[in-house]
Amino acid sequence: MPQSDVIIIGSGIAALSAAYHLRHKQVTLITKSSWKKSNSMLAQGGIAAVIHKNDSWKNHFEDTLVAGCYHNNPTNVEYLVQEGPNEILEWCQRGMRFDCDQNGQFLLGKEGAHSHHRIIHAGGDATGRAITEFLYQATKSSVRIIENEMATELIVEQGVCCGVFTKRIDGTIKRYLASNTIIASGGCGAVYGHTSNADVITGDGIAMAYRAGAEIADMEFIQFHPTMLQINGQCVGLISEAVRGEGAVLINQHGEAFMDKLHPQADLAPRDVVSRAIFFEMKKGNEVFLDISMLSNFATRFPTISRMCKQHGIDLKHGRIPVAPGMHFLMGGIRTDENGETNIRKLFAIGEAACTGVHGANRLASNSLLEGLVFGKRVAGHILSLPFDQPVMAVDDSMEFASTDSCELPTKKQIQGIMTRYVGIQRTEAELTYAVNWFESYQKQCSFWEFNVKDFTTQQIEIINMITIGWLISTSALNRTESRGGHFRIDFPDMNDKEWQKKQLIRTKNEMYVGV
Ligand code: SIN
Repeated sequence: MPQSDVIIIGSGIAALSAAYHLRHKQVTLITKSSWKKSNSMLAQGGIAAVIHKNDSWKNHFEDTLVAGCYHNNPTNVEYLVQEGPNEILEWCQRGMRFDCDQNGQFLLGKEGAHSHHRIIHAGGDATGRAITEFLYQATKSSVRIIENEMATELIVEQGVCCGVFTKRIDGTIKRYLASNTIIASGGCGAVYGHTSNADVITGDGIAMAYRAGAEIADMEFIQFHPTMLQINGQCVGLISEAVRGEGAVLINQHGEAFMDKLHPQADLAPRDVVSRAIFFEMKKGNEVFLDISMLSNFATRFPTISRMCKQHGIDLKHGRIPVAPGMHFLMGGIRTDENGETNIRKLFAIGEAACTGVHGANRLASNSLLEGLVFGKRVAGHILSLPFDQPVMAVDDSMEFASTDSCELPTKKQIQGIMTRYVGIQRTEAELTYAVNWFESYQKQCSFWEFNVKDFTTQQIEIINMITIGWLISTSALNRTESRGGHFRIDFPDMNDKEWQKKQLIRTKNEMYVGV
């Protein structure tokens, strides 16, 4: 039975950051697909960090809180923004190269709701790929990396997590024991029909932690990225917010800009505000485009996006990219303290799978790669400060499982359809109730809390996880009878109240708690 000091589940930036800092221990990193399949690899815009002398951590702190509708944990936000510049500089010392000018100074981009230029990037718009590949190269020789193996169930004995069961696509089940287990398996974008996330991001880590008794928080706060490339009604890829940071403007098919009438920060308002504005525009029957005609260096500044547009037949010479909002980021997740510790001993969570409270009700742009780096290192430091106990051995070591009743499962497409239609950008009690009942009808058929990994394929386990996540999001959204950040209830208060609607688009510190 394989035994490690630390098991890390996932292979994105948070997982690799933790693995790097724990590399002198016995670390096993388990990922259900190739290590390259993560949201971190897809991240375009960059990493937010206060580097410029005219900026200060207090600005970054305040911007994060305003974007997050003051639902954030301020202590953790302070840690995040104060540690950010050190992290960037340390990785540069290890050889990571970010985009710089000819004098070697960082080229700093701007994104939504940032008061200053502070977005560090690499490869123009391939920041996530560049940093994730760099971390992987720095880590791979000291860490055992297991690909194409899905973590299915945590092993918890006497309240202590001591490892995980995995399953391979060929049906092989394995048991891994460890003194510490870190979930870094990302969020749950694939539960929605339109998403910027990798298709493997089905909320497995969060669902698995929930089944094991971990506290889950803030699941109603879903960030829809305003500008996904939209082709024939399908969202096919991300158009980074950095494009608007360079000056691109959202327009409708008549060429009319609309964000400047709705928010003082116009096209660079917080993401939830811009996504709602586009959503309302589309509800009026309008199409929405990003006008990039004023950007002379588009192809060199945004090579990944240019390639993607070309692949989908968009001629950038026309200066318009068709866009629509799509699920991008989960602000909630497995509740942790500042060290990434959950309520289950020896179980930790980091990155998008975790809810440290840094993002509040709506994440500030380019704070997620930063969170992965900073909290990956932090959890590693904390684990290294703890005694490395032998894992509490499972009493029954035989890997025999009681059989689960068979049950009919929906398809992934059906789940995505329900989430997109009933738990999307705007929500009502009636729609959320429908979604909750729909998910519960499947949960009643067989127990998803104690199902047997032996009886289901990895595909079916993904679907069970998606049902659990869909249910968690819709019940949390039903329970929160207010609108805030990535959770917008048109029934709180009266949706015809024009003043309230205005406040949903423009918010100041004192107007944050509208609709309570
Ligand atoms: C983007 O480039 O717009 C996405 C970056 C992020 O999610 O913060």
